[in-house]
Amino acid sequence: MLHFHHQPPPYPVRRQETIDAITKLCADEAWTRLEGAPELEADLAAFHHNDPQGRPPLPWFISSGTAALEAIMLGHGIGPGDQVLTTPYTWGATVSAILAIGAIPRFADIDLHSGLLTAETIAAALTPQCKAVLVVHLFGQSCDMAGIREVCNAHQVLLFEDASQAHGARWQGQRVGDWGDAAAFSCMGLKPLAGSEGGYAIFRDRQAAETAWLYGKHPRGLDNETAQRLGEQGLLDALQLGWRNCTFSATLLRHALPYLDQENAARRANIAHLRQHLGDCPWVSIAPEPDDAHHVYHLLSLLWQGDHWSRETFHQRLLQRGVENFLYIPTPIHRLKRMQTNGYEGPPVFWHDTLKRAGIDYSQESYPAAEQRCRSSVEMGFNWTRENAAAMADLAACILEAAQPDSGQ
Ligand SMILES: Cc1ncc(COP(=O)(O)O)c(C=O)c1O
Repeated sequence: MLHFHHQPPPYPVRRQETIDAITKLCADEAWTRLEGAPELEADLAAFHHNDPQGRPPLPWFISSGTAALEAIMLGHGIGPGDQVLTTPYTWGATVSAILAIGAIPRFADIDLHSGLLTAETIAAALTPQCKAVLVVHLFGQSCDMAGIREVCNAHQVLLFEDASQAHGARWQGQRVGDWGDAAAFSCMGLKPLAGSEGGYAIFRDRQAAETAWLYGKHPRGLDNETAQRLGEQGLLDALQLGWRNCTFSATLLRHALPYLDQENAARRANIAHLRQHLGDCPWVSIAPEPDDAHHVYHLLSLLWQGDHWSRETFHQRLLQRGVENFLYIPTPIHRLKRMQTNGYEGPPVFWHDTLKRAGIDYSQESYPAAEQRCRSSVEMGFNWTRENAAAMADLAACILEAAQPDSGQ
């Protein structure tokens, strides 16, 4: 039996200058900073670009990706009872952020191969009740942002991006986060842009940003003019939602950002090697990359299409060969127990009241491609941030052997 012996390079890479900067923060006892992270936000503003309407990015570094999602929605006036269309095939925080602000998640199906929402599935699922669409650039793959922007414009709904897994990915050359009315990124320590914990929001609309700041920006993080104006209006109070950011994480991120594109290029080169060695294997595939896309492969998702093994057997056969892999989204969000309002017997869930009032019963809904993908894929971390053709050839050989029906092993 083949065995995969290679180790990915350490991730995230922390260079000596980064360790020195963190050590200096400790020596300076700079444990917290009410001003926030304006230098990091300036770096992020330079990294991102104007959106298709020519609006410059307004970044805000806050406590987590989930907080960033809540912030962009609240900033745009999404709140109790409002409907937000998103994907049932995502990390749960995309959806729990909608629930946390009292809004109602509605779902559109995905493309089976990529696992992503598409312009077509969104157009088919949008109802007049939806105020916004929240796309997720899952596994580091960019959604079709030109097509989705067009659909959102036609339906006059806001477009938000959850780019928590896709820092640096692009569509038609434009970075994710630079297409929507606002975007949210997680920067927890395993993401393509990794701090310790934290996340950032990108606003395009100054008014929306100010609305969100009131929920979580310390007045010392505001420029003088804004602080004075909001103070005179009696709006600078302590009704905040605990989104203060971490000074140490901001420093880690400032040091990581200059290397992001280069690390993504290595991930992409490694995926190209892997694709080449996997060839046209009929049982297992990596979703093709559309010409307009520039994916960054935060996670590798392999779609299992054989019928000689179950997906569970394939998963185990990979593990036996030393290929770490896991079932990242085993259940689509609309099928999760805590999303069910009828017959639910677990501990109380605060969003059930909202869902019942709106007459939402997810048990009656079906998203066939999302459901099938949850049954059919395996995932692995893909922090191969240095090109390693030999490792990818070996990885492909192990995957092919695990997929083989007649290897006798
Ligand atoms: C797609 C997606 N959305 C949101 C989040 C939430 O980010 P955080 O864990 O920083 O709150 C994550 C984090 O794992 C994620 O992968």
